[in-house]
Amino acid sequence: MEKLADTLGRIAPSATVGISQKAREMVLQGRDVIALSAGEPDFDTPEHIKQAAIRAIEMGKTKYTNVAGISELKDAVAAKFLRDNNLNVRAEACFVGSGGKQIIFNALMATLNRGDEVVIPIPYWVSYPDMVRLAGATPVFAHADAQSGFKLTPEKLERVISKQTKWFILNSPSNPTGATYSAKELEQLGAVLERYPQVHILSDDIYEQLVYGGNKFATIAQVCPTLASRTLTLNGVSKSHSMTGWRIGYCTGPENILLGMAKLQSQSTTNPCSISQWAAVEALNGAQDFLSEWRNVFQRRRDMVVAGLNDIEGIDCLTPDGAFYVFPSIEILLGRTSVGGQLITTDEEFVLALLEENGVALVHGSAFGLAGHFRLSYAASDAQLKEALTRIAQFCDALA
Ligand SMILES: Cc1ncc(COP(=O)(O)O)c(C=O)c1O
Repeated sequence: MEKLADTLGRIAPSATVGISQKAREMVLQGRDVIALSAGEPDFDTPEHIKQAAIRAIEMGKTKYTNVAGISELKDAVAAKFLRDNNLNVRAEACFVGSGGKQIIFNALMATLNRGDEVVIPIPYWVSYPDMVRLAGATPVFAHADAQSGFKLTPEKLERVISKQTKWFILNSPSNPTGATYSAKELEQLGAVLERYPQVHILSDDIYEQLVYGGNKFATIAQVCPTLASRTLTLNGVSKSHSMTGWRIGYCTGPENILLGMAKLQSQSTTNPCSISQWAAVEALNGAQDFLSEWRNVFQRRRDMVVAGLNDIEGIDCLTPDGAFYVFPSIEILLGRTSVGGQLITTDEEFVLALLEENGVALVHGSAFGLAGHFRLSYAASDAQLKEALTRIAQFCDALA
């Protein structure tokens, strides 16, 4: 067998992609599986956005583009940052990549050296630590546990910052917990970061549009303008406009970092898909009225799922303020045995037995750095969610 690159030895395949793939394989084998493991809205991409892509094809907009995106999209991104986040940035200070994931990858690859550290709150989105490791640097973790609503406190942030810290990654609303930082909480973290001028901030705002109740989305460059010159503010159309397959993410940030990212992109993907870029122009400039409708649907599903899970003995679920995930504790259930005879000692064994025996795909909390939990995505139909809750309850009630 061919020997693979040593770099690959430093990382694991994405656990969320892995579980979703296993669920798809089971469906192909004719098994009845409800997959609540993937992080994508179940809505179709809105018609006016699809039409913009069709027009782009018909008009021959099917060639290479500028590396960092067509100027029309960078204009739309700058307008979005001003409209929604009160960030006054020039279009030239905006950058487009093939998904938010590629933007984060580019930013870390373009800036990190061996010995550098990146502070990541636990629980984290699965890709952050492995991208840091791929870039040859070291992830340093700070625990944001259930007691603090899965949010990092300023004290815990300060404890892990060192001379080597290059980045602090902040994701609000959060994948996997849905935790959403208020402007005041961001200000408090910002006060710590003010004292460490070598630290850059990567603000992953991909779930910006999904904030519920009376809560308001805020982003750190807006709340702490003095930090804006060292903040990379990341967003994308995947989650907001149900465009996960189109692969468009965007950001604004320090000019030298964006130049480094463009250099990297010029030698990897060249540019994000031209047709998707034209669709994203329409997504950002066109009608936005469906966003509040979708938000209401998600909020209703969140309430149903949280109530349903808390009705199950042994499951303890906080009500998150954003995104489309819940991250309940199942610690009490560990040590019990399933109907299928599986002794369940870890969250991973819990989700695997649940998938095998009752056909619901979830992701174990340890994949996000916090054992004893699972992540459930409620970006699924009401009927699927109700059936999944019934199956999870049956599985848990039958644990002996
Ligand atoms: C926290 C977070 N950031 C970034 C991304 C990247 O999304 P995309 O590459 O589809 O823009 C995701 C997707 O799951 C995510 O959950």
